[in-house]
Amino acid sequence: MPIEIKVPSLGESVTTATVGKWLKQPGDAVKTDEPVVELETDKVSVEVPAPADGRLAAHAVAEGDEVDVGAVLATLEQGAAGASAPAKAAPAAAKADKPAAQPAAAAKPAVAQAEAPAETDYDVLVIGAGPGGYVCAIRAAQLGFKVACVEKRATLGGTCLNVGCIPSKALLQSSENYHAAGHDFAAHGVVIDSVKLDLARMQARKADIVGANVKGVEYLFKKNGITWLKGHGKVEGTGRITVDGKPVTAKHIIIASGSDSANLPGIEVDEKTIVTSTGALELSEVPKRLVVIGGGVIGLELGSVWQRLGAEVTVIEYLNRLVPGTDNEVASQFQKLLVKQGFKLKLGHKVTKAEKTKKGVVLTVEPAAGGAAETLEADIVLLAVGRTAASKGMGLEEAGIELDKRGRVVTDAHFATNIPGIYAIGDVIAGPMLAHKAEEEGVALAEILAGQAGHVNYDAIPGVIYTWPEVASVGFTEEQLKEKGTGYKIGKFPFMANGRARALGMTDGFVKVLACEKTDRVLGVHIIGPCAGELIAEATMAIEFGASAEDIGRVCHAHPTLSEAVKEAALGADNRSINI
Ligand code: NAI
Repeated sequence: MPIEIKVPSLGESVTTATVGKWLKQPGDAVKTDEPVVELETDKVSVEVPAPADGRLAAHAVAEGDEVDVGAVLATLEQGAAGASAPAKAAPAAAKADKPAAQPAAAAKPAVAQAEAPAETDYDVLVIGAGPGGYVCAIRAAQLGFKVACVEKRATLGGTCLNVGCIPSKALLQSSENYHAAGHDFAAHGVVIDSVKLDLARMQARKADIVGANVKGVEYLFKKNGITWLKGHGKVEGTGRITVDGKPVTAKHIIIASGSDSANLPGIEVDEKTIVTSTGALELSEVPKRLVVIGGGVIGLELGSVWQRLGAEVTVIEYLNRLVPGTDNEVASQFQKLLVKQGFKLKLGHKVTKAEKTKKGVVLTVEPAAGGAAETLEADIVLLAVGRTAASKGMGLEEAGIELDKRGRVVTDAHFATNIPGIYAIGDVIAGPMLAHKAEEEGVALAEILAGQAGHVNYDAIPGVIYTWPEVASVGFTEEQLKEKGTGYKIGKFPFMANGRARALGMTDGFVKVLACEKTDRVLGVHIIGPCAGELIAEATMAIEFGASAEDIGRVCHAHPTLSEAVKEAALGADNRSINI
């Protein structure tokens, strides 16, 4: 029987749209969720997906027509392309912010389809309450879905709020203050005779900040009517999971289980002397000698915390450089500044063994390229060699959900797994393991499920390393542009030539703008310097809006601010910086 494809809910206060391009013609075979037609409003551009597998029977409207939310766009002969599963209900009509309940999506594997429940407890069920999961749950609730979120941790917020971004930033700020009081204040004429560290107080402050954040998410769940299902979620198949063994059903299941610290053979983490980032946030004494394995983001951020508090920090990094993936010029400046701060670096080395002794740990270290092994003693060892997708122990493989070689859930461009009605977002899928990337995916998926045009621009995801100075980047690095063969020009401006940076006494670093040689479009921005993590927002917006370097250069920036360095670097792409 033909089913109708209708204009979906287009968000608050949007009631009409213009029909854009038809992506499927009558007679074309379509798959569930495949875009059929584009709709334009003054706020968004939306691709309307097919609600089921089948063959497009007829267009009901023409390109350029004005259509109301709920109007019929086309008809679809269900199953004509080989599918026999029930169709999703057509996307929401009339009520703009309330998506229609959607029965389980067209099933591909017969088992999952046969067992899909007809009636469900929830519309949307998110497994994991980290930044990906909790944000997705909130957006889905805002869009009118009945939402539950499964979380086994005693508090909401996932790794980021509990044992990641938030506590590390609390300790980074405190340790920076301690270091500044002891080393930098005197230059401002503020003389403190003896600066004392109260680590217990510092840790208690961190715990208070974490507590306030995780309670905040609990409040947001209540405010948005989201049910927190406490316990361990296990996926059973389309529409079905269990929480600590108890069955729960939902039309859409979203896996947002995050990631875990990666292990190294020969190194046994006890979170006391050999720690991951979790244990490194909880030390009750400053270690005399901290050895960090891995010169990436976690190693350098948490290494900075303990180095500022007095530890002698040695970083053992497999590659011949720090922070792989970061623009080379920025990384090499970063490396110099870290060494100046007192970091000891052993680049091009790997750890093959870690033996616990009464006094601490003895590490066996070898050159990565082969050569004689040596030993290194440490009081505490921080293992920070990356993170792996948390996809084990939750029934994914048993349910037939496809994982890649690195254990990540395989998804399509709309976050759908190979099992109908089951989606995944955040660290558990491909892409950078960043809280804000997960959040964007959570919002986009909730909107896609509501028939809207959820979208993530992976070319405009900023990355920040919260060390001193901070390192922040967005878009392509110079090396990536070379590899792609894209012609580019460079504008660079040092903080040394920025009045505000001088007044702050924070003149290390620079802003580097990479713009297309032909069009002047901003392709990448890389900043090392004070407040780089804040400054990068302007560059991200520029890339998102397709700005040229000249556009940034023509925007009035307040004086004196650090942001003027971004403007000056953008002007520099056309050799017209003013203050250098
Ligand atoms: P990472 O991928 O940033 O760095 C790991 C480092 O370990 C790499 O430099 C790698 O070459 C090195 N390595 C790998 N195996 C090694 C071995 N056997 N011996 C010596 N070195 C070895 O991973 P990291 O720092 O653990 O962070 C994990 C994830 O968490 C990353 O995706 C990161 O982006 C994210 N994260 C982001 C933060 C932020 O945005 N500020 C803060 C903390 C973590």
